[in-house]
Amino acid sequence: MADAVTPNDAIAAIRATGGAQPGYRALHAKGTLYRGTFTATAEAASLSRAAHLSGEPVETLVRFSNGSGNPRQRDGLPHVRGMALKFSLPDGSTTDVSAQTARVFTSSTPEGFVELLNALRPSISTPIRLTKYLAGHRGLFKSVRANGAVTRIPASYATLEYHALHAFRWVDASGGARFVRYHLVPEAGEQFLALRDGLRRDADFLTDELNERLRDQPVRFQYRVQIAGPDDSTVDPSQPWQSTQTVTAGHLDITGLDTAREHGDDIVVFDPMRVTDGIEPSDDPVLRFRTRAYSESVKLRTGVERGAEAPQL
Ligand code: HEM
Repeated sequence: MADAVTPNDAIAAIRATGGAQPGYRALHAKGTLYRGTFTATAEAASLSRAAHLSGEPVETLVRFSNGSGNPRQRDGLPHVRGMALKFSLPDGSTTDVSAQTARVFTSSTPEGFVELLNALRPSISTPIRLTKYLAGHRGLFKSVRANGAVTRIPASYATLEYHALHAFRWVDASGGARFVRYHLVPEAGEQFLALRDGLRRDADFLTDELNERLRDQPVRFQYRVQIAGPDDSTVDPSQPWQSTQTVTAGHLDITGLDTAREHGDDIVVFDPMRVTDGIEPSDDPVLRFRTRAYSESVKLRTGVERGAEAPQL
């Protein structure tokens, strides 16, 4: 088994691939904040007692992003895209969801992810390194197939499905519990561009397109939860789930740009470990590592420690 990596190792490996640029998020560097309202269904309330699942509409902060660590990455290139949510709860606290267009993660551990980043480091020996890596990780071919959306150029941030990948334990009012995975499904359906058309688009076309779309009407996503079956792993985000039991837990209506946040010393971090009563993180090692890696990224992009803002592990 590989030695345990530190958050610094992860940031160094991300930097070597062109990410972790000072002043920007280490990954998903280019993104835009939006405002919206989330309204849960009655079914959600029966699965978890979490405050935002009661059915009362809650304000939600949303960030769409290009997965690259390069803040000037062209939108018209195939890549992972991100959708992160921050629900405002009645007691003044928040709870987050962090999702991306890949259906499964590339690795079951932080070590595996850092190993992949190291193999991808651009240099004259990259093809040899990558070939060696792929020969030792045949499972990755399966995940490339499952992650088809990542190899394509979307027509819009509003025409992509996003997946939160980790399992969370939803606990209901009587203490009953089940593990679930989250999926954000666009009401507009999934739509992609032909590669040639995508490559011709402006560098920021995904943000421009979404802003234009929002001038006419809100953009709606369904928030679906997939309930784990007996053979579905709750600790390995690189494994797809077999369960077909999916529940629509609510609807998110994105109404426009957020202009209030991330000015001056305001710091926004979407951290999947920021759960609330009624939702518990699983023992997935990638999920638990993310808070520590995100804290390093925050230090790099803002110059300050996260302190009490970070979920307590
Ligand atoms: C060991 C694994 C991972 C590492 C080291 C890692 C690293 C990072 C870092 C450093 C950031 C920037 C954080 C910030 O400055 O606020 C980031 C952002 C992000 N990551 Fe990860 N990540 C990992 C796994 C994942 C997984 C599994 C997902 C998908 C569910 C994911 C989705 C995202 C998203 C959506 C953002 C952008 C959040 C925003 O818009 O602010 N990451 N990641």
